[in-house]
Amino acid sequence: MNYLVTGGAGFIGSNLVHVLAREGHRVTVLDDLSTGKLENLAESSEGLAAGGGQLSAGLDGRVALAVGSVSDADFVMRHAAGMDGIFHLAAVASVQRSMEEPAACHAVNVTGTLNVLEAARVLGVKRVVLSSSAAVFGDNPELPLRSDSRTGPISPYGLHKLMCEQYGKLYTACGWTEATALRYFNVFGPRQDPNGEYAAVVPRFITALLAGRRPKVFGDGLQTRDFLYVEDVVRANLAAMLCPDAAGRVLNLCAGRETSLLDLLDALAGVTGKRPEPEFLAPREGDIRRSFGSGDEAVRLLGLPPWTSIAKGLAESVEFFLRKDLDEQA
Ligand SMILES: NC(=O)c1ccc[n+]([C@@H]2O[C@H](COP(=O)([O-])OP(=O)(O)OC[C@H]3O[C@@H](n4cnc5c(N)ncnc54)[C@H](O)[C@@H]3O)[C@@H](O)[C@H]2O)c1
Repeated sequence: MNYLVTGGAGFIGSNLVHVLAREGHRVTVLDDLSTGKLENLAESSEGLAAGGGQLSAGLDGRVALAVGSVSDADFVMRHAAGMDGIFHLAAVASVQRSMEEPAACHAVNVTGTLNVLEAARVLGVKRVVLSSSAAVFGDNPELPLRSDSRTGPISPYGLHKLMCEQYGKLYTACGWTEATALRYFNVFGPRQDPNGEYAAVVPRFITALLAGRRPKVFGDGLQTRDFLYVEDVVRANLAAMLCPDAAGRVLNLCAGRETSLLDLLDALAGVTGKRPEPEFLAPREGDIRRSFGSGDEAVRLLGLPPWTSIAKGLAESVEFFLRKDLDEQA
């Protein structure tokens, strides 16, 4: 099949691209490389060359890269032509950034999604899988959060994702294309960026432990999250692309495991053999105290296998960062 993966040079997108390429599909990655990296695609397509908005095929011919923005409707239309399906992952994937620059993030997160759906409608692309987020729930305290729990975003990012879900449903109801939105909770795994002020907690903790630094914890570390291994997210995306009953649906993607940051550090100590005392910092503004959900509906509808255990996911993530360190030293 021919698939377009927007945001395919990012953390989750690149993991998806590797699996699609391995399964023999032809993939075009559309990414502006704002947070995505060429190195994330290196094993999929040796010799990828980025050019300003140009499409350049990898040596193996299965992965091509189009550098440009989803907020450019013509650019999206051009690269969606001839596709059997679109995995739409490109976004400014940060609650904090959306608080600082709501309008700029809206242009990417909402208008970008509309451009993708519109390209699918005009070109007759059958299915679009959208990446939504648990941020649509805001601080809804009715735990576990179910796919039909009350939404109420408390950040522009959460609102953007809710609008994308609604656009997906509308385009499906009108018969313009088939869209499925998957609401990810806290995804972790290989290729997640450990650097920068918006970095996620798992790669930050892993790289701190491996470097012998004390991991920084905002607040008391008892805040909880529902951590999901990236392989499970990739599998769900593939299933959502093919499952007839998934059209027009919005599904939580989470393992239903409520894990505190201190539990996470314990699990990482088990994997790395390192247990330094965390450095506790002031809580972050807007940080939700508890978050976990029920992914039962996605499991049932998409026929997903059991979730990867946190211990296995962490072990594979640590191995990835160790290998990366060795590669960088070589
Ligand atoms: N990581 C998580 O825990 C999580 C949770 C919920 C939802 N999501 C969603 O999953 C998707 C992927 O997130 P991720 O964690 O891999 O983040 P990421 O930042 O690694 O990936 C996003 C990708 O989109 C690209 N991008 C950004 N703006 C773009 C633009 N204007 N045009 C084209 N490409 C652009 C980036 O360069 C990057 O490659 C996002 O839609 C995000 O909102 C992620």
